[in-house]
Amino acid sequence: MQAYRASLLRFDAAGQPVFDEDGLLVVGPDAAGRQRVQDAGAFASVAARHPGVAVTHWPGRIIAPGFVDMHIHFPQTDIIGAPSEGLLPWLENYTFPAESRFAEAAHAAEVAEVFFDELLRNGVTTSLTFATSHPASVQAFFEAAQRRSLRMITGKVLQDRHSPDGVRDQTEQSLIDTESLIRRWHDVDRLGYAITPRFAPTSTDAQLRGAGELAAKYPGTWIHSHVAENKDEVKWARELFPGARSYLDVYQGFGLMRERAVYAHCIHFDDDDRRLMRETGTAAAVSPTSNLFLGSGFFDFEGADRIGCAYGLASDVGGGTSFSPFSTMLAAYYVGREGQTKPGVSIAPSQLWWRHTGGAARALGLEGVIGNLQPGCEADFVVLDPKATPMLTRKTARADSLEELLFAMIVLGDDRLVERTVIPQAPAG
Ligand code: GUN
Ligand code: ZN
Repeated sequence: MQAYRASLLRFDAAGQPVFDEDGLLVVGPDAAGRQRVQDAGAFASVAARHPGVAVTHWPGRIIAPGFVDMHIHFPQTDIIGAPSEGLLPWLENYTFPAESRFAEAAHAAEVAEVFFDELLRNGVTTSLTFATSHPASVQAFFEAAQRRSLRMITGKVLQDRHSPDGVRDQTEQSLIDTESLIRRWHDVDRLGYAITPRFAPTSTDAQLRGAGELAAKYPGTWIHSHVAENKDEVKWARELFPGARSYLDVYQGFGLMRERAVYAHCIHFDDDDRRLMRETGTAAAVSPTSNLFLGSGFFDFEGADRIGCAYGLASDVGGGTSFSPFSTMLAAYYVGREGQTKPGVSIAPSQLWWRHTGGAARALGLEGVIGNLQPGCEADFVVLDPKATPMLTRKTARADSLEELLFAMIVLGDDRLVERTVIPQAPAG
């Protein structure tokens, strides 16, 4: 067992923050050897329950759950900041050419290492991740994640039409490849597989139907796609699938909405779409830096809360502009003001934080596993230094409440705030 002493941030079952100014986190292996939180709380009481445990003390630091990024593209690491008038030309001019290089295993492996370094430097310990249509990209991602003992989810992108040579796949082979990757990687160590149709416009009916059949056959896998991000995209999807009630309803028609299904963006929705999300247990990955960068629109937080949709925060790198959860939370704060009808400034800082940790974990079906530091959770955490920059030092010292402290870090924080990211490892041998 190993214990870590610092201020400690956790969340209760209602998603409200629990903060111990002088806290202790006790970590140790479960029966299967997986490192989990054994105890957490105020130093005095937790230490008394574990006499003799080795304590690492980080004075002045804050231990918090590792962040959970609900939607990111590892092969787009190198196209952050590619300017475009909107989603569809951005895909054609930057994204597909960059992704075509991931047929090559060595390139995929090199970018995967950069990607994980960058995630961890920014305090992100789990992500639901797009690979590319090439099985080699999935293989490279899982091998690298496994070496680092990370909890990570990805899958081969399915796109058998309206896609250029180099990224377009073949309907039958794409489904064979998906199933063999599920069998090879899903539930191996802390890895999970996501069945990943890119978005409805780039898949044939046969490919979407096959994806839905695999989703029914392997109910523990995730489903991961995009929906209702951009007005031109919505119009195109409606033309291609005239029989569906809405763009979202296309996925429902192919059996692609269920628990563990996650759709990025969900901007151009009506209440029937929101109800369909809720009734099927499907979650939205809200990607505000991407939506602002590509001019896609504004996620309706009030609408999602009113109907009761599950959602969490996501970077959507490379449409998104930063790996940093602080950038994403701040952008969500800005977007939360748009169209707001209820009184108040925007979303509470602790709620932004929860939507990128415990709330994101809940939306992924991983509540109690990641995104929190309650006993039983896997023990991935970050150590934050609230004095990392001159402005953080001034502002966090003046915080009169937990909300003010969290907001100072959301507004002023970046990778410098994350002093270390800890993935407790099983002892060797
Ligand atoms: N829709 C289909 N593919 C993509 C993608 O790579 N990024 C974003 N933001 N939207 C998409
Ligand atoms: Zn995306």
